[in-house]
Amino acid sequence: MSRELSFVSLFCGCGGMDIGFEQAGFRGLFAGDIDEQAISVYGRNLKTPGHVIDLSTKNASSWCGLKPDVVVAGPPCQGFSTLGKRRIDDPRNSLIVAAAYHAVSLKSKVVILENVSGAMSGKHGGYWETATNFLVASGYLTDSRTVVCSEFGVPQIRRRVLLVAWRGKQKSFPAFQQGNHADLKTALTQLDGKANHEPAELRRQTPDYKIAQRIAPYQKLCNVRAGDRAVPTWEIPEVFGSTSTEERQVLCAIRRLRRQLRLRASGDADPLMLRDISQHCGGDVSKPVERLLRQGYLRKIGKRVDLSHTFNGKYRRLSWDHPAPAVDTRFGDPRYYLHPEEHRGLSVREAARIQGFPDEFEFSGTRAAQFTMVGNAVPPPLAKQLAESVREFLR
Ligand SMILES: C[S@@+](CC[C@H](N)C(=O)[O-])C[C@H]1O[C@@H](n2cnc3c(N)ncnc32)[C@H](O)[C@@H]1O
Repeated sequence: MSRELSFVSLFCGCGGMDIGFEQAGFRGLFAGDIDEQAISVYGRNLKTPGHVIDLSTKNASSWCGLKPDVVVAGPPCQGFSTLGKRRIDDPRNSLIVAAAYHAVSLKSKVVILENVSGAMSGKHGGYWETATNFLVASGYLTDSRTVVCSEFGVPQIRRRVLLVAWRGKQKSFPAFQQGNHADLKTALTQLDGKANHEPAELRRQTPDYKIAQRIAPYQKLCNVRAGDRAVPTWEIPEVFGSTSTEERQVLCAIRRLRRQLRLRASGDADPLMLRDISQHCGGDVSKPVERLLRQGYLRKIGKRVDLSHTFNGKYRRLSWDHPAPAVDTRFGDPRYYLHPEEHRGLSVREAARIQGFPDEFEFSGTRAAQFTMVGNAVPPPLAKQLAESVREFLR
């Protein structure tokens, strides 16, 4: 009979990664995270003993004597994520290096560090490199990989980077086995009565409801992109105020020119001079621009004008025909994500289903905390495939 393999999980959150390892037959020796609520949820749902611990310090006394085969670690990604400010000096960034340090002190045979793609790019990649160098200097071979979660049985566009490190004679680590295709519709059916499923329809006649009514599947509210997928505010007059054909032409011209005539002074677009808009529209636009300023569609920036609101990426409606965007901590907020058919955000259970959590897994804490846990997690089906590859490798 083969020996039972074991793992230690650092920055375990509520245990997305760990579910996969337990499902693949690994025995968890220790799991740690600084967040008490996450550890409370972890304790209720996993067999591995979970501990509240600050892993930023080098004190590893909590796991003295443990000899895991594998260490998995999911240090925070907020400082690397393009959704955030990507501050190079975010103190959480160095936790990638702390994770490598702890893994080496545990002398495990395999280490898997997981994070967002931004952790490997540009200046931010320095932390990843330091962690890699430390593992190599400690006798490990390493390989950095990108995984696309939709290839691992999760109906979601989510990319993650993995730093895989191993000791031993093998020169390479095998490719991870991909999972079955999963579609969003299957993931979001038969939810009635499930724990953490409390869908809250938007209240009729509220601005949010009226906006939601105008956004079809696979569309989003967006003033700064043309094309079928973007619905600009001027096409929702019942919320944002009516405009004339001439005014809408001006708005569309501004949408196009603000990215074309770049000053490279602000973001990915710049405010415009009136004469450039007039030239593009083939006549003086000062009157419609004046009215649009009064209505709030446009704003003045010095002598220039720009759209008042970009709304890029707001009120995205999911579609049955496409994988969902990466589940993040805003998934329950309809101002960011809308259910494919109903005028509401998603429930915690729906977000958990898209991540591949089993229905028996119960979340607790505030709604915001529950969405944070789900959004932070490694999709369990991906984790299970990783665990199975590690098991094959160790055999
Ligand atoms: C991306 S999440 C990990 C998700 C986890 N891998 C999963 O699959 O569910 C990052 C975790 O790091 C934890 N964390 C942040 N700072 C920490 C610290 N100093 N010590 C321990 N955990 C910390 C957060 O509470 C959060 O749960």
